[in-house]
This record gives sequence, structure tokens and C-alpha cells, in this order.
Amino acid sequence: MVYCNYPLKKLNTFNLNINANKVVKVKELQQLCKLWQKYKKKYLPCLILGDGSNILFLKNFYGLVIINRIKGIYINESKKYWNLHVNSGENWHKLVEFTIKKKIYGLENLALIPGRVGSAPIQNIGAYGSSIKDFCQYVDIINPINKKIKRINKKKCKFQYRNSIFKHNNYKNYVIISVGLSLSKKWIPNLNYNDLKHLKSNITPQKIFNYICNIRKKKIPHPKIYGNAGSFFKNPIISPKLGFKLLKIFPDIPFSLENNYFKLSAGWLIDKCKFKGYIRKGVMVHSKQALILLNKFNNSSGMNILQLAIKIHNTVGKKFGIWLEPEVKIINSYGIVNPYIFFKKN
Ligand code: FAD
Ligand code: EPU
Repeated sequence: MVYCNYPLKKLNTFNLNINANKVVKVKELQQLCKLWQKYKKKYLPCLILGDGSNILFLKNFYGLVIINRIKGIYINESKKYWNLHVNSGENWHKLVEFTIKKKIYGLENLALIPGRVGSAPIQNIGAYGSSIKDFCQYVDIINPINKKIKRINKKKCKFQYRNSIFKHNNYKNYVIISVGLSLSKKWIPNLNYNDLKHLKSNITPQKIFNYICNIRKKKIPHPKIYGNAGSFFKNPIISPKLGFKLLKIFPDIPFSLENNYFKLSAGWLIDKCKFKGYIRKGVMVHSKQALILLNKFNNSSGMNILQLAIKIHNTVGKKFGIWLEPEVKIINSYGIVNPYIFFKKN
């Protein structure tokens, strides 16, 4: 059923009071293609969403919002691996829980990341030292207009930190329909992340899962309580030259090395600009994690969130010479907007 002038408040984790001209929940691929074709013929924009946990709506959406609920998990095994083919409308965290219950291990570090499986490869979701690229073998995509399906193998996905080929413009008219994951039967705990280093090496996957769920719950407010989209910005990756220069000025700056480049913590940079707890027009910089912007009373607007984000971007840029890039996708009435319109080096 296609709903008209439908509220998206429960379909975006910032809890913004936004409406879309048309909204539909789809459970089958045929239905998705049919609707996509129909609305594109009328020159109306189509936007596919999972749980709306990485988007910022600025205005009411003019076209059709398709909520993807195409489900199915298929498991195959080889001598050394469990191979999962998962349809894109499955909930990511429920998939992690499901695999652990089935004694298929590896995804535990990625517990409690909101969203659907189909969105996960787009920004190569990651947390606590793991990311989907460590397990993803392929991503199946469809062009809903001609219904042609393509399998993009791991290498061609070009996974990087919070990035993949699916963010490229060439893929904007494709829909991710399923994801192939491969999990080794020989489980090795991944305790490389700072917060996990103290855990004993005889730890179990279930314990890691529980531990990560607990720390995440302490750090990140549940979006149903305070609307948020997790980290608003990406952690910046900067040249060794700038990295060493900053280290001299700020010897306590936390960083890790990625192929000799410095990966800094955007939360630390924002924190150093004294934004923690800062509130403006109902939007607050989370007092436990400066990278998270909260719709504190769940009645602010996308524009207010954007304005605070721009203020943070400019302040951090002027202080450190680092111009943060948003992780969250910004959406106006017609679709995704180029973030550089708002987040300019100045
Ligand atoms: P949506 O927000 O619905 O969509 C995101 C984008 O993907 C949109 O542009 C949409 O059009 C597109 N899209 C969605 N489905 C498809 C599809 N099937 N085909 C093509 N395009 C599609 N991320 C991390 O990486 N690590 C974290 O630790 C983390 N923690 C978070 C904590 C909180 C509280 C929140 C709210 C978010 C967090 N995020 C994190 C961000 C978010 O969970 C991920 O980006 C997630 O993958 C978004 O999934 P979604 O289904 O909600 O995507
Ligand atoms: N820090 C501060 N002040 C802050 C926040 C962070 O000083 O207000 C410093 C601390 O030194 C802390 C370090 O930054 O040790 C790292 O913080 P944290 O472990 O919370 O991780 P993060 O780098 O801020 C990233 C991801 C999260 C992911 C966590 C855990 C990005 C943009 N964010 O945050 O992902 O859950 O690591 O792995 O990479 C998301 O993408 O939405 C998200 C929540």
C-alpha cells in the first residue's frame, strides 16, 4: 500500500517531523521495481531507505520513499567457511544475533549498529576494529528500470574507511538487493580496538557481543530517546606532514596510522573546541561523545542540525586546519545533496 503525505518521524533516527509525498514498505523485489518504474516515469524522485539511521532530511520529500523490507537469509557451508547470502531488508543487528545463536562467529564486533543489511556496504559499516569489508564477498545490485542484476565482487566494491564504490554517482540509480558474507569456521577474537584490549584471549564471541552492546549503550543514546544518527562526521585521515605538525602542538592528540596516514578522532577535535554539551535551537552536542548530535527534545529541524554541524565544521577547521566531512547523508526535497555545498573549507 502506498501512503500519501506520510510522516517519516519514525522512519529517520533523528526523529525529524518530515513528510514524504508517497511512502511504501516493500517486501518483494518485483514490487520495488514496479513502483520505481512508475514514479520515475512521472519524473518523481525515488529514495530507498533501510532504517533512516544515516540520513538528515532538510525538507519534506517530494517523491516516493521506499522502505526496504525484502528479507531472507540463506546459509551454505564449505570446509572452512560459513557463506551467507542475505537480502538487503534484513536488520543488521538481528543478523549479528542470529549468526551467533547459530554458532557462526565473526560479526560480534559489529553488534548494535543500526540499519539494514543493504545499507551496510555503502559506507562499509565499522566499529570496534571490524568492518563489513572483512566479511563481504559480493554485493548484488539491481537497476530497477531494466531489472538487470549485477554481482559486484569484493575487490570491485573498493571498500575503504566509511567508503565504497556504492557512494559513487554511477551507482545512484541502483538498489542493493543482497550481500554475500563469508565467516571463517576458525574463530579468532578481534580485540585490537583500544576498548577491547584488556579482554582476555580466552573470551567467547557471545561475551564480546554482550560487552560491545553494553559500551555502545553507555556511549550512544538510543535514537528513540534522543534523535541522532550516530557519528555526524567521519574521522579525518590526514597526511603524515600535517599529522606530525599537529602532534607537536597537541601531544595528546589520539591517532592511529592507516597506510602511513594519520587517522584522527573527530570527536576529540570537536571536544577540544569545547562543544560537548553545547545546545542551540534544540540540537545538542552529546556530552559523552562530541561526534554525536542530538535532537534533544525531538522537535528540532533538519536545518537546525545542519546549522550546528556547519558551525562545528568551521570552528574545527579554523582551529586545526582540518575540514571534517559529514558521514550522514543530507537529503532535500529531491534526493541526496552534495555535502560540499554546506561544508566548505573557508
Ligand atoms: P538509511 O539511513 O536508511 O540509508 C542510508 C543511505 O543508504 C541512503 O542514502 C539510502 O538511500 C541508501 N540506501 C539504503 N538502502 C539501500 C539499498 N538497499 N540500496 C541502495 N541504497 C540504499 N555506522 C557505522 O558504520 N558504525 C557505527 O558504529 C554506527 N553506529 C551508529 C549508531 C547510531 C545510534 C546510529 C543512529 C547510526 C550509527 N551508524 C553507524 C550509522 C548507520 O547505522 C549506518 O550508516 C547504517 O548502515 C545505515 O543503515 P540504514 O538502513 O538505516 O540506512
Ligand atoms: N574522543 C574524545 N572526546 C569525544 C569523543 C571521542 O576525546 O567527545 C576521543 C577519545 O580519545 C576516544 C576516541 O576519541 O578514545 C575514539 O572515540 P570512540 O571510541 O567513541 O570512537 P569514534 O572514533 O568517535 C568511531 C566510529 C563509530 C564507532 C566507534 C567504535 C566514526 C566516524 N565513528 O567513533 O561509528 O561506533 O568508532 O568503533 O568512525 C558511526 O559511524 O555512526 C559510529 C557511531
